[in-house]
Amino acid sequence: MGYKTLCFGFSCILFAYFLYLPIPENVEEPWKVKYVDTLIKAASCMATLFENIGLMKYEKIFSIVATFYIAQPVSDENVTVIDTDFSNIPVRLHVPKRKSERKRPAIIFIHGGIFVFGSCKITAHDNMNRLISNKIGAVVLGIEYRLAPKYLFPAALEDCVSATKFFLQEKILAKYRVDPSRICIMGESSGGALAATVTQLLRSDPEFKNRIKAQALIYPGLQLVDTFLPSHREYPHGPILHREMMFKLASLYVTEDSSMIQALLRNEHMPEESRHLFKFVNWSNFLPEKYKKNYVYTEPVLGKVNASYPVLMDSRLFPLLANDSQLQSLPLTYILTCEHDLLRDDSFIYIARLRNVGVQVFHDHMEEGIHGALSFTMGAVALNLGFKIRDRYIHWLEENL
Ligand SMILES: *[C@@H]1O[C@H](CO)[C@@H](O)[C@H](O)[C@H]1NC(C)=O
Ligand SMILES: *[C@@H]1O[C@H](CO)[C@@H](O)[C@H](O)[C@H]1NC(C)=O
Ligand SMILES: *[C@@H]1O[C@H](CO)[C@@H](O)[C@H](O)[C@H]1NC(C)=O
Ligand SMILES: *[C@@H]1O[C@H](CO)[C@@H](O)[C@H](O)[C@H]1NC(C)=O
Repeated sequence: MGYKTLCFGFSCILFAYFLYLPIPENVEEPWKVKYVDTLIKAASCMATLFENIGLMKYEKIFSIVATFYIAQPVSDENVTVIDTDFSNIPVRLHVPKRKSERKRPAIIFIHGGIFVFGSCKITAHDNMNRLISNKIGAVVLGIEYRLAPKYLFPAALEDCVSATKFFLQEKILAKYRVDPSRICIMGESSGGALAATVTQLLRSDPEFKNRIKAQALIYPGLQLVDTFLPSHREYPHGPILHREMMFKLASLYVTEDSSMIQALLRNEHMPEESRHLFKFVNWSNFLPEKYKKNYVYTEPVLGKVNASYPVLMDSRLFPLLANDSQLQSLPLTYILTCEHDLLRDDSFIYIARLRNVGVQVFHDHMEEGIHGALSFTMGAVALNLGFKIRDRYIHWLEENL
């Protein structure tokens, strides 16, 4: 069979897929969402094909596509954009040009991309951070942390922590005229996991305890301890984020052993010694009734993976594994969730646990929301929803930072 036949067959399947793909009913711009979702599934399909014929690794295609969208550091009349290094970690700064008597707030931005791809320099992120910088007069720090599979856990986290601590030095804050009492850490998707963890770590570090005013988490992934949460069962195939793609990529942050992917799909990946941790992610105790629906809580099957991965029990990997006394010290929290998102319930559990220990949480829920929309604000893939989420987040910053 020649390549042409293969390509033709492949296109037909995609087209059929595009036509019949079910999209949740209340989603806005359903055809556009179908289009974006088809592109992502096509990329995943191609990545699998390329990996099977030995052309390139599965994850490679995602990082290649992401690099197409990198924006150069271009300053404009309102904002100076600077690419530099903080403690040897590449960062991008958006600094407002407008003079003001008052010192500026700051936002530390951590991008998503399942720990494997993405950049704070992607046009959608660059535009958002530029807008925030201009609109609320904030300095925005984007961290270009190291990615898997080249750099395993905890490389990405260490970079985020180091760059953040570097920025929080008095002399650096003074250099950019940042008000040390108005600093927020923000992360989206897997960046939300990193942002939540950085916040937890700084809060338990005496030197940095009170240095972060707020955290903002946009549809964050906060655990892969239980992969049978109701939202996983409801949206295994997306839209946008689907289980298989997510597990293939996310597992690379921990190991290249592909048996982990199958174990994650079957929810049989956690080690024998992890039973005591399931109380932290037990959805039957934390989810609102509305989301429990008719799903039945099943006890985890443990110790099925051959090799031992104690990192799966580390709260620095899955911030939902932090215990209540760790959560108690967390600052003001903003969480935005999307209804049709397989990561949705991670947030609902975190919100319930944070509120249980008295942390102030502001929760925005997008009833018509899908995962990743913040990245779709450009060109043919621009979604109204992306702008709506961006505006909600900025509005919250305006009111609270
Ligand atoms: C600069 O800021 C003004 C006022 O907010 C805005 O109207 C203008 O579009 C901004 N310029 C750019 C290049 O974004
Ligand atoms: C999860 O919660 C349910 C309901 O409260 C309980 O029956 C079950 O034992 C819990 N399981 C774990 C592992 O915490
Ligand atoms: C798992 O362990 C068994 C028994 O120790 C061994 O025979 C098998 O090869 C291992 N499988 C993998 C994928 O490492
Ligand atoms: C919570 O976790 C921290 C850090 O791992 C530990 O020092 C502390 O003892 C734990 N607290 C409880 C109540 O388990």
